[in-house]
Amino acid sequence: MRTIDWVDGAVELIDQTLLPGELKVLRVTAVADLIAAIQSLAVRGAPALGVAGAFGVALAAREFAGDAVGLARAVRDVEVARPTAVNLARGARRAAGRLGDGFEGVLAEACVVRDEEIAASAAMAVLGADLLAELCGGRPRVLTHCNTGGLAAVVGGTALGVVFELQRRGTLGGVIASETRPLLQGARLTAWELEQAGIEFRVSVDSAGPFLLARGEADAVILGADRICANGDVINKVGTYAHALGAQRAGVPFVVVAPESTVDMDTPDGGAVEIEDRGAAEVTSFSAAVNPAFDVTPHDLVTAIVTDRRVVRLDRGEKL
Ligand code: MRU
Repeated sequence: MRTIDWVDGAVELIDQTLLPGELKVLRVTAVADLIAAIQSLAVRGAPALGVAGAFGVALAAREFAGDAVGLARAVRDVEVARPTAVNLARGARRAAGRLGDGFEGVLAEACVVRDEEIAASAAMAVLGADLLAELCGGRPRVLTHCNTGGLAAVVGGTALGVVFELQRRGTLGGVIASETRPLLQGARLTAWELEQAGIEFRVSVDSAGPFLLARGEADAVILGADRICANGDVINKVGTYAHALGAQRAGVPFVVVAPESTVDMDTPDGGAVEIEDRGAAEVTSFSAAVNPAFDVTPHDLVTAIVTDRRVVRLDRGEKL
């Protein structure tokens, strides 16, 4: 089942805010509703956001046909619906590049964006599983953070796609999924996807990750990215940096799996990226809070970046 797709004239997406309790598909025909779905995290994860951005522009092209000002505003609203994952604005801009061809042209481009993400997931799964076999040997036990499966990437996934591939090969040694406070993408979504796939796993609280690594409970950390900067800095769900520090301290590989559509050579390093602040309410309703949704993992903590086309060994001084 695809997380997001264009079906009979509308965007259909799994409402990820309801999982694992309820599997509900939302049908969206108005661009404002798609933007709301992006902002509420009904659709989320960098590759899926790229596809949502592209389909959002298709909705806008249909809704605002003949209204150039309204259309330009709607396209911009889609691009900036969330700031951190580069895929969203990229997907929207790609689709917007076909506005001259009308709604049909925009939709065709959006479908190409979707199909490219599906192909990228398949390619990354193989490259990542090969790399883990090389780095960790026989049956890698992995620790992962946030949700990087089909829910985040149409189908398949990035880091979790690698986990599925290891399982398919019969070489998966175990999975720890960190819960990913405050919205529990790990405890809700990764757990749900692993259950669906019949893969055994344990959920850990986020703060346990570095200690579990120190205690030798995983052979690698494998996770995704929302943006990979030109110098290799990795922007991903808050908590990633702590896991990278834990991995370095424990001497285990820290592997980032993300499609080329997440590599942003126009952004020199993590300091230049807007980190989404999702406000206090998600954390607590009774005191002030700071709630950055992502963090920056310095490139020198990253062993390798696996994309759909290449393995870049940052630990060996290779460049993106
Ligand atoms: O806030 P979210 O749930 O959209 O954040 C998602 C992540 O940080 C993922 O790790 C990242 O997008 C990679 S998904 C393949």
